[in-house]
Amino acid sequence: MNNGIPNHVAIIMDGNGRWATRQGKKRTEGHYAGYKRLKQTALYILDKGVKYLSVFAFSTENFKRSEEEVNYLMDLFVSAFKSDINFFIKNNVKVLFSGRSKPLSQKVLDVMDTLEKKTKDCTGGTFNVCLNYGGQAEIVDACKKVAKEYKENNLDLDSIDMNNFYKYLYNDLPPVDLMIRTSGELRISNFMLYSIAYSELYFTETCFPDFDEKEFDKALESYQNRNITKGGLKK
Ligand code: IPE
Ligand code: IPE
Ligand code: MG
Repeated sequence: MNNGIPNHVAIIMDGNGRWATRQGKKRTEGHYAGYKRLKQTALYILDKGVKYLSVFAFSTENFKRSEEEVNYLMDLFVSAFKSDINFFIKNNVKVLFSGRSKPLSQKVLDVMDTLEKKTKDCTGGTFNVCLNYGGQAEIVDACKKVAKEYKENNLDLDSIDMNNFYKYLYNDLPPVDLMIRTSGELRISNFMLYSIAYSELYFTETCFPDFDEKEFDKALESYQNRNITKGGLKK
């Protein structure tokens, strides 16, 4: 069985905190290690021929964490998105963000906006960063966009279908083929609910800061050995 290279891979990058506490470090050090790992693994995944890579960087629920941790993560986003602009341009990677803007600070929103604009013509793969993202919120927000557009233009609601609904999501990306979650948790945690309808799922005990090239190859091998039917018959 060889299903080839998945077109769209999504990763729930979990376990930064546990990775750090197990080594007697602060949770925030785990987030920094996760960020370093992400740059390396993301390029490897796109180099393999994956066209779209979505990652869960911060959920809407993550605002419930301690002020210290939330502030650390927001500062990390600002400094990373600023310092990595050339990294993405050099590697020809188009960066997109998915999520709600409220209650992100203007500082964070500005660097997100700059990174999207500066990489908009890059063609070597799309890197979709889900930040202040929730899957149910995405579906609700998409329905609001549909309602507004259809009302303003007096359109026929029957023209909405499962395929063209994607264009009302935060970004118009194809369905997810392979969804990976690190650190041993067996949950979806409100990630990309619409787009994972027929996604293959891969769970690993490895915490995200240790999710390197070899770990991705294991996920890919598992994917390539599955009977993927997407609701049809097995080949
Ligand atoms: C994932 O790691 C990163 C974010 C949610 C920002 P966690 O911070 O959830 O790490 P654990 O699950 O507590 O180990
Ligand atoms: C999901 O991880 C969100 C991110 C990886 C950013 P969490 O650690 O926040 O999820 P739960 O709380 O274990 O479901
Ligand atoms: Mg977690």
